[in-house]
Amino acid sequence: MSEFPLGSVDPTLDLFSEINRLRKEMNAVILAHFYQEPDIQDIADVIGDSLALSQRAAETEAEVIVFAGVHFMAETAKILNPDKQVLLPDLEAGCSLADGCPPDEFAAFLADYPNHKVVSYINCSAATKAMSDVICTSSNAVKIVDSYPPDQPLVFAPDRYLGDWVSRSLDRQMVLWPGSCEVHEMFNEKKLVELKVAHPDARVAAHPECPGSILQHADHIGSTSGILAFARQTDAHKIIVVTEPGIIHQMQKENPDKEFIPAPGTDETCNCNECPYMRKNTLEKLYLCMRDRTPEITVDPVLAEAALTPINRMLELSR
Ligand code: 13P
Ligand code: SF4
Repeated sequence: MSEFPLGSVDPTLDLFSEINRLRKEMNAVILAHFYQEPDIQDIADVIGDSLALSQRAAETEAEVIVFAGVHFMAETAKILNPDKQVLLPDLEAGCSLADGCPPDEFAAFLADYPNHKVVSYINCSAATKAMSDVICTSSNAVKIVDSYPPDQPLVFAPDRYLGDWVSRSLDRQMVLWPGSCEVHEMFNEKKLVELKVAHPDARVAAHPECPGSILQHADHIGSTSGILAFARQTDAHKIIVVTEPGIIHQMQKENPDKEFIPAPGTDETCNCNECPYMRKNTLEKLYLCMRDRTPEITVDPVLAEAALTPINRMLELSR
C-alpha cells in the first residue's frame, strides 16, 4: 500500500519511470487518443484515432487497459473486454456528443422512425449504442453508411455535422439526431478564411465534426489519423489544423520540417479549440489511476451485451 493516500503524489517521483514500472507489474497496456497532452502520448503503448484504439482494445492480451481518452472510449474497451480491468485517469472526462444524446430521449426519438436502421457514432453512451444497429467512427462512417442498400432508411446519431458530411459525401438523406461536438462547432469561419489569406501556401485539414461552413474551406476532411496521413503525404509545408490541437504533437514529430497552424476558436483569448474533457487527463492522474487501480470503468452486463453487437458489426465491416 502506498504511503501517499488516494489522489496524492510524492512530488519527487519520476512519473515516467513509475508508469513504466506499474505497466510491467500490472501487465497493462496504455491506449491514448491523439488529443491527449504530449507527455501522455509519448508514454502510451498505442496512440490512435477512435477506430484504431477500439481495434487495439479488442485485440489486446494485456490484463489491464489504461485508457487515456474520454469515457465513451474506455467504456467501449470495457464492453469489448468484460473480464479485464479498464481504468480511465479521470472519470469526468466525458464528451458533449455523448452527453447530448440521453438514452431516454433517444429511445423516444427512434420510436418515430420504426423502419429505420440506426447508425451511431462511437461518441455515445453504452445505452445509446445498445439501441443502434451499427457503430461507426469518423474514419469509417462513409463506408458503414454505404454498407446499407440505398433504399434502406437510416437514422444517424448523435453528431449532426458528421452525419451531414456523410450525407453529402454519399448523396444520401438520413434522419439526423441534433447533436454536436462543443469543440469542433466553435471554429470560426471568418477567422479561418483570414488565416488562409495570411498563409496562401497552406493547406487546410479539418475533422468532419466541424460544421459544413468550415468544411467547405478544407483541402482534406478526415478522422485524426486521416489528418495525420494527409500531413505526411501533402507536398505543402504549412497546414492549418481544424481539430483539437493536441494532434499537432504527432504531426510535428512526424514532419519536423512542416509548420502546423492551429485554427482558432471563436476568440483568441479562449482555449475553446482544446477539448475540456480530453484535457482532464494528466500524466499525474495517469500514474495515480495505475497506482490506485481507480477510477475503474464498469458497465452493466446486460447493457454491455446489447452494445457489443453493433460494435462488433463495425469491427467486422472495418476489416
Ligand atoms: P477520431 O476518431 O477522428 O480520433 O475522433 C475522435 C473525437 O472525439 C474527435 O473529436
Ligand atoms: Fe467529444 Fe468533441 Fe471532445 Fe471529441 S473533441 S471528445 S467529440 S467533446
